[in-house]
Amino acid sequence: MDVNSIQTVAVIGAGTMGNGIAQVMAGAGCQVLLYDTGQAVLDRALATISGNLEREVRKARSTEADREAALGRIRAVTCLEAVAPADFLVEAAPEDFRIKAELFGKLDTLCRPEIILASNTSSLSITRLAAVTRRPDKFIGMHFMNPAPVMQLVELIRGLATSDQACQLTRALAERAGKTAVEVNDFPGFVANRVLMPMINEAVYCVMEGVGTVEAVDAVMKMGMNHPMGPLALADLIGLDTCLSILNVLHEGLGDPKYRPCPLLKKLVDAGRLGRKTGHGFYKYS
Ligand code: CAA
Repeated sequence: MDVNSIQTVAVIGAGTMGNGIAQVMAGAGCQVLLYDTGQAVLDRALATISGNLEREVRKARSTEADREAALGRIRAVTCLEAVAPADFLVEAAPEDFRIKAELFGKLDTLCRPEIILASNTSSLSITRLAAVTRRPDKFIGMHFMNPAPVMQLVELIRGLATSDQACQLTRALAERAGKTAVEVNDFPGFVANRVLMPMINEAVYCVMEGVGTVEAVDAVMKMGMNHPMGPLALADLIGLDTCLSILNVLHEGLGDPKYRPCPLLKKLVDAGRLGRKTGHGFYKYS
């Protein structure tokens, strides 16, 4: 299959990553079938995409006609069967192996056998997810960074059975969407989160042990290392629950105590302080 023959992309899950990926794919000229279980989540996703595109128009980087055309290419669906016509599929469901495995079991029977099933998982095993389908050679990790419309990278994760053709086509689709794909192999956390999460975790330990306040830790890393945002503000952006679940995958999957999630991170998650999405994490959001 040639990248230009990908006309319709299914995006499974309309949360933060799903709506960002849908926007990116619509911007690349693809028809998008955006699936989620509830209409309210889909309505919020469409409003977010519309707001993001409006900002592009305000900044004169896009026109109102482009905005309307991109929005017109996104169809929100609550019925999984509706994604059957897709020529490529990206899953961005919650970061839970059982949820993703159940979805891929169904999607494998719904989607044409020749199309690629990609997962936006941030740390779960691509090889293990691929094994629930009958097309492990056409299964790949396509890991967008948050916020997906802004970030340049797509981490491509090759499972044990992923074919060269699947890698090439997924890379070509990422490039068609203006992204740069970097290929890595399937190990817990891949590269992005294996390197990023220990830094975030260490920043949380610094706060817990009183080495510095939240603001001080972030200021040191932001101004001292030229990071666009401090690690604690970034953890709030990613979601503290997501950070915790990625650290658990690293800890269990690699068996090294250096990945042990900081107890303060667990405590904040237990309290429902999940970051931007709940209005409170390390910082408060209005
Ligand atoms: N959606 C779309 N566009 C957004 C956006 C969003 N959610 N948030 C910000 N933007 C755009 C803004 O419109 C703005 O555009 P222009 O500069 O072109 O006008 C641009 O991004 C910068 O935004 P702001 O001026 O509001 O703020 P900023 O300069 O601080 O940038 C940021 C915001 C892009 C998020 C920047 O702080 C940044 O790059 N932070 C680091 C993000 C990062 O590391 N992401 C990776 C997380 S790890 C991950 O995702 C993997 C995983 O599995 C957990």
